[in-house]
Amino acid sequence: MTISRIKGTNDILPQAAAGWRAVEALLRQICREFGYGEIRTPVFEETELFQRGVGETTDIVQKEMYTFTDRGGRSLTLRPENTASAARAYLENKLHAAAQPVKLYYIGPMFRSEQPQAGRFRQFHQFGVEVFGSASPLADAEVIALAWEFYRRLGISSPELRLNSVGCPECRPAHKEALREFLKPSLAKLCPTCQGRYERNPLRILDCKNEGCQKLTEGAPTTFSSLCPECGEHFARVTEALSAAGIPYQLDQRLVRGLDYYTKTAFEMLSAGIGAQSALCGGGRYDGLVQALGGEATPAVGFALGLERVFAALKAQEAEIKTEEAPDVFVLAFPAGNAEVSRAAFALTAELRRAGLAVEQDLLGRGMKSQLKHADKLGAPHVVIVGERELAENQVLLREMARGEQRAVPISEVREILLTSAT
Ligand code: HAM
Repeated sequence: MTISRIKGTNDILPQAAAGWRAVEALLRQICREFGYGEIRTPVFEETELFQRGVGETTDIVQKEMYTFTDRGGRSLTLRPENTASAARAYLENKLHAAAQPVKLYYIGPMFRSEQPQAGRFRQFHQFGVEVFGSASPLADAEVIALAWEFYRRLGISSPELRLNSVGCPECRPAHKEALREFLKPSLAKLCPTCQGRYERNPLRILDCKNEGCQKLTEGAPTTFSSLCPECGEHFARVTEALSAAGIPYQLDQRLVRGLDYYTKTAFEMLSAGIGAQSALCGGGRYDGLVQALGGEATPAVGFALGLERVFAALKAQEAEIKTEEAPDVFVLAFPAGNAEVSRAAFALTAELRRAGLAVEQDLLGRGMKSQLKHADKLGAPHVVIVGERELAENQVLLREMARGEQRAVPISEVREILLTSAT
């Protein structure tokens, strides 16, 4: 019996991995331009971090975490997201004592025990940014602009930016109460999940995917009707900044998000054409999280995007990512069985690699024709043929694959010739 990978996980093979590296390089480049520094946190944390950070009543904490007890009897969890870990690291490493705001980014695997389907995995990868220490609406607009710039440069045609404000501890209770009042007569008709949400978090009923619940919430009081002056003002400044940067948005008063830490701004970007799991990214402000984890009150905002969904969106648009994976040169030994030729070819390969060239060689003892075919398949623009006859005169044949032409050159000059043509 062979062993298969766990359902909802993926192997990323070399060709696809080249695309991943290109996308990651673009993300790193954009972070450099926007002034964000990389943070790498552990993939597992104390379970309590996510219970307190993401929220006890969320689907993630209630149903989706990979939680286990370690040998010391502690409850640990594979991170389902990285915001709680970033906030923990901000506190633990006293980043609040550094110059504010602290602007961080991360790229890495996250784990959620969900029902796998197109665009939804159990191990998936997120890129995300978190800004700690700024209450300015410009910080909200900056993280949105960063996501927008990434999709623009990658050539993903304008995603749809949905924007809402979920209020703050000042104004949210009034909104929750108004919602409960509105839904009271139809409580029995809500889906079982939403009946459970009625007391705990009625806002989540607004973004239930169940059609019945959607109908019942038609005309429900919106957050905007109960935002306090500060939240209202903040939201207006965010939208102004987005307009100033030429980023179109749509107000979506049903957008609540599935994590408990959000305050004020909440947003998502959607892409048509990648199926039911259409959220390319999601995020918002979370001014209470650092304090909930035991720190001083610290305003913060961020978002995360799913990398698998980036590739799905590219595929849906039949767009290609440019990768540079072909070797610069293929060193061909002929005849492969000749020990002296083989040694010389191996030595030349080593020398060229030391000079920084990407070099492939034959490892199967193939004949000339089949080695040439292989070099062509790999996309090598040059082939150096180390042949028995040429070697006797300290020469090799240098073949230009595009033109199909070859000439004899002294073996001592190959490196220089190749280096000049590679630049
Ligand atoms: P989230 O909405 O749970 O937010 O996830 C963000 C993005 O990760 C989603 O929009 C989606 O692209 C991707 N994603 C989530 N779950 C899966 C899955 N099972 N399979 C594939 N992709 C998935 C957060 O995680 C927050 N921490 C975002 C944030 C950062 N808020 C503030 N800062």
